[in-house]
Amino acid sequence: MSTIIKSVELYKSYKMGQNTLKVLKGLDLSVDMGEFVAIVGASGSGKSTLLHILGALDKPDSGSVFYMGSDLAGFSQKKLNVFRNTSVGFVFQFYHLLDELDVLENVMLPAMAKFTSLGWISRRKSTKKRAAELLERLGMQDRIKHRPFQLSGGERQRVAIARALINQPQLLLADEPTGNLDSETGNGILRVLEQLNSDGQTVIMVTHDESIANRGHKLIRLVDGKIV
Ligand SMILES: Nc1ncnc2c1ncn2[C@@H]1O[C@H](COP(=O)(O)OP(=O)(O)OP(=O)(O)O)[C@@H](O)[C@H]1O
Ligand SMILES: [Mg+2]
Repeated sequence: MSTIIKSVELYKSYKMGQNTLKVLKGLDLSVDMGEFVAIVGASGSGKSTLLHILGALDKPDSGSVFYMGSDLAGFSQKKLNVFRNTSVGFVFQFYHLLDELDVLENVMLPAMAKFTSLGWISRRKSTKKRAAELLERLGMQDRIKHRPFQLSGGERQRVAIARALINQPQLLLADEPTGNLDSETGNGILRVLEQLNSDGQTVIMVTHDESIANRGHKLIRLVDGKIV
């Protein structure tokens, strides 16, 4: 199997006035294409920090992240933006949808960001079609004109997943995607991610939920700034 993303000796700390909080302490991680990896660890152990670094939303103090063998540190600002917007898709605990836009528009947004305004004109239609198809696949076809605030939590997360997938990312990064949902709704979201994975999508998911351990995914435990 080929490695899609790999971290080597990641260190990350936060300075708070006089104090330095060491969060990641030489973390090594390697994920293969097509894997479903669940990262578990106590609150404050650095799971979100790690996910943000893997997705280039944040930088480590030292150490490297390799995406398909290339060191992110060597990417230009432009290449990093492309990486963030098209190579990875993000799903967050609190959805981060825009209430000003309807469901379909929310899903289309990362695709819009990809093109110049001229390029967008010619791709608008095909993007709209793809957004509608994704929403249908996630069982949201009857909600495309809703605004996020008019949706349930599970529905919002489905929209967020569709948005994360609009640019066909190689890697889906999900930070506690079920953390704000009741267990039944959360299970539904988990099944959506598992279905995507069985269709070939690589998924790295952070979760508090230890029962994930029983679902046959690769489980990674973050303790004291390292993978154990
Ligand atoms: N921008 C920041 N400035 C200062 N400290 C931070 C910052 N971001 C995170 N921290 C601290 O770093 C530690 C790790 O945070 P992180 O959000 O990665 O934890 P987590 O494992 O995702 O926790 P949770 O399960 O509660 O989401 C926490 O103790 C947090 O308070
Ligand atoms: Mg977190």
